[in-house]
Amino acid sequence: MQDTKKGLEDVLALDTSICSIDGRQGILKYRGIEVEQLGQMSYDAVSYLLIHGKVPDQRELDSYSKKLRSERYINSDILNVLNVCNYGSEALDSLRTAVCCSAHMDTEKDDSSMEANMSKSIRLVAKFPTLVASVHRYKTGQLPIAPDENLSHGANFLYMLKGKVPTELEADAIEKDFILSAEHELNPSTFSLRITASTMADIYSAVITGLCTLKGPLHGGARKGVMNMLDEVSHPENAEKYVLDKLSHRQKVMGFGHRVYKTCDPRAKLFKDIARRLADEQGDSHWYDVAETLEHTMYREFMATKGKPIFPNVDFYSAVVYKYLDIPPELATSVFATGRVSGWVSHYFEQYANNRVIRPRANYI
Ligand code: CMC
Repeated sequence: MQDTKKGLEDVLALDTSICSIDGRQGILKYRGIEVEQLGQMSYDAVSYLLIHGKVPDQRELDSYSKKLRSERYINSDILNVLNVCNYGSEALDSLRTAVCCSAHMDTEKDDSSMEANMSKSIRLVAKFPTLVASVHRYKTGQLPIAPDENLSHGANFLYMLKGKVPTELEADAIEKDFILSAEHELNPSTFSLRITASTMADIYSAVITGLCTLKGPLHGGARKGVMNMLDEVSHPENAEKYVLDKLSHRQKVMGFGHRVYKTCDPRAKLFKDIARRLADEQGDSHWYDVAETLEHTMYREFMATKGKPIFPNVDFYSAVVYKYLDIPPELATSVFATGRVSGWVSHYFEQYANNRVIRPRANYI
């Protein structure tokens, strides 16, 4: 037996044409296009790009968007389940239950033809925002709001969440959040999804696997952790003490560090810019200032104690964006999943198209 690689660090597990990361230079591309450019597209176009492997022309985009918009609705049985789930369970647990129920009610669930899988993937991408918004509405004692087909993917989500059409900047912020959260190579949730896909299980089972893995605080759950940290720190002047306390107890500070990036995560830079613009629009830089002080203190402390920097990851400034969008911490991981679902289904198709069951070995000790 060879030596094991703890955490599978730097292990190349499979080939992919969906996403590439240059961790030294901080370059992230979906299907060969840098994230900075992807931010100029709509979520529908990026979702199409991920799933179909090409930028859609206008006709393809119109047809894809039309299908997504018409599939936004969820039926009353699922809403009843979400209402019943409303007993102290986390939002992500309710979302997972709702996806399980959606599978039960999908007559194509066990049809693994390409056409059926494509229809199911459109339904998943289209319905996630409605499911997440409905979870939030029930949890806050409000009735769900029906989707508005005239609004973009992101704007419609905020509308269903809060009952009012967002400002242009807010709509742009959530659309970019979905785009920047959509895909990231073999992150833990995508890898776990590919394992499920490799057993030839159905697409719902694979997406549910991804959801379960996303929940953990070292992965997608970090976004919620950052939001809670911002509340705990509360003022920029408390940031330094917070960081020093955490580091002296050898505890992690949420939203920092990355397995792959040795420089700043390019998504963190883009999210920081969005947070800045929201702060300016609202005339309130409070949360931005708290976050920036945490960032500077972490950088300084790592340089002083380890001789190398640490940078914020995608979950850090996206959490600040959620603060300005008034998205509660409990919902943060589910909102992350709403963007990520396009990447997940793309990986499902890629695994399915060239499958061998993923089954590594363990070193018996
Ligand atoms: N706070 C304090 N110290 C840290 C942090 C952090 N956030 N991240 C890494 N370190 C230290 C860690 O203590 C270790 O120090 P030492 O070598 O002295 O023991 C060193 O840096 C290497 O850390 P590691 O945990 O071994 O690195 P990893 O590659 O196994 O884990 C990570 C990467 C992202 C899980 C980790 O940096 C972490 O736990 N960060 C906090 C949680 C977080 O923000 N997760 C989001 C991940 S990115 C997006 C996503 O997947 O959703």
